[in-house]
Amino acid sequence: MSSQLHLNLFIHGRGHHEAAWRHPSASPLALTDIHYYTDLARKAEAGLFDSVFLADTLAVGDDVAHAPRTWLEPITVLAALAGATNRIGLIATCSTTYTEPFNLARQFGSLDHMSHGRVGWNIVTTWLAAAAGNYGGGGPLTHADRYERAEEYMRVVTGLWDSWSDDAVLDDRAGGQYARAGSIRPIQHAGEHHQVTGPLNLPRGPQGRPVFVQAGSSETGRRFAARYAEAVFTAQMEKATAQEFYADLKQLAVREGRDPRHVLILPGLSPVIGSTEAEAQRLARELNELSDPEVGRKRLSGRFGGHDFSHLKLDEPLRPEDFPDPGTVEAARSRTEVIIGLVRRETPTLRQLLGYLAGARGHFVTAGTPEQIADLIEDWFRDGAADGFNLMPPILPAMLEVFIAEVVPLLQKRGLFRTRYAGATLRAHYGLARPDAQF
Ligand SMILES: Cc1cc2nc3c(=O)[nH]c(=O)nc-3n(C[C@H](O)[C@H](O)[C@H](O)COP(=O)(O)O)c2cc1C
Repeated sequence: MSSQLHLNLFIHGRGHHEAAWRHPSASPLALTDIHYYTDLARKAEAGLFDSVFLADTLAVGDDVAHAPRTWLEPITVLAALAGATNRIGLIATCSTTYTEPFNLARQFGSLDHMSHGRVGWNIVTTWLAAAAGNYGGGGPLTHADRYERAEEYMRVVTGLWDSWSDDAVLDDRAGGQYARAGSIRPIQHAGEHHQVTGPLNLPRGPQGRPVFVQAGSSETGRRFAARYAEAVFTAQMEKATAQEFYADLKQLAVREGRDPRHVLILPGLSPVIGSTEAEAQRLARELNELSDPEVGRKRLSGRFGGHDFSHLKLDEPLRPEDFPDPGTVEAARSRTEVIIGLVRRETPTLRQLLGYLAGARGHFVTAGTPEQIADLIEDWFRDGAADGFNLMPPILPAMLEVFIAEVVPLLQKRGLFRTRYAGATLRAHYGLARPDAQF
């Protein structure tokens, strides 16, 4: 744990609550309007956040009739955000299963130049089964296959980002030499899934490589994170499991020969904030009343790889046996473990479970005053559960604005959060060194 906590804004729909898009205080802008995204990024930058982040799933969900998403393609959005902001880090999701590594290396390399060193890549293997139908139609890969491919993928893209040494470009107009050809070399990768000659057709970026972010929390996901991730997003429903995850991942990173301080752990936090506790609770109720349990049932099915939950009664207590064994789920395995863990601990009814998941899909949801939210953040931070948070405002921009106006100053007063940006790159905000090219 460093002395300063890190804050990332996760931009999702008109807020992370399933019904946020209908709430009167949600943004009036269309989710296809770039101004919606640039306004949020500028607000987060004014609040001195480390970064903003966009997720991506590569297919329309079954619940599209009742649930809008962050439609615009994330890399394209980052290009716009790079021009609209100056200091904040910019993180986009891109899939190792469905993107050619040469394309990805070029796009993130270009964004790193365009943003002057502020880009991060959320490395995902894409859990959503429907995505396979949009990329060759060969059917979804298993969880193990996806991670196995991702390992090879990392070797390819890292090789490409390192294929130009840092001093390769001379740009010597008088002498007539643009680059040192000997400092740009092919990677000659011939693997099981990818054949890439290289080098990348782009000089090395200001950060060397984008910051590697990862969000898989299954056993395989954790081992992958321990090897590569510099920041880890994770869904935790309570402090005790967050502490267990934190300790485990830091230890796995040490076993990989890494400094555990260079693997930042950022659990999701979705706070409904009110000036009194009663007001926060009222707002949380208002949001829950806008959500439809049948939409939640569809989403739950998607999380469990299409498992049929239609026979379960809404108002009867759930049992762990109502769910498939997480070990057999090929989709987002760790999230299914989180959900079954909650069922085991609290035996909610299906309606109650869906109500909880409506808040932020299995991330930590809470309602309280700014003081209470700041206390919770400080407690998790000081007590080995988090290096910072992936803030998931239930309503955007309203709950982000309240967080910045009311919670950030409390964190600053307690010496936990920056009062100005000290550096100019995402690596600087996250306290990470620039990697040398393995040339
Ligand atoms: C905050 C957060 C954001 C995520 N964003 C994406 C995403 O944009 N696209 C995606 O396919 N998976 C996303 N995931 C899912 C994970 O990357 C991972 O694929 C999933 O958890 C399955 O891997 P696991 O079984 O190792 O956890 C996200 C997870 C978290 C916690």
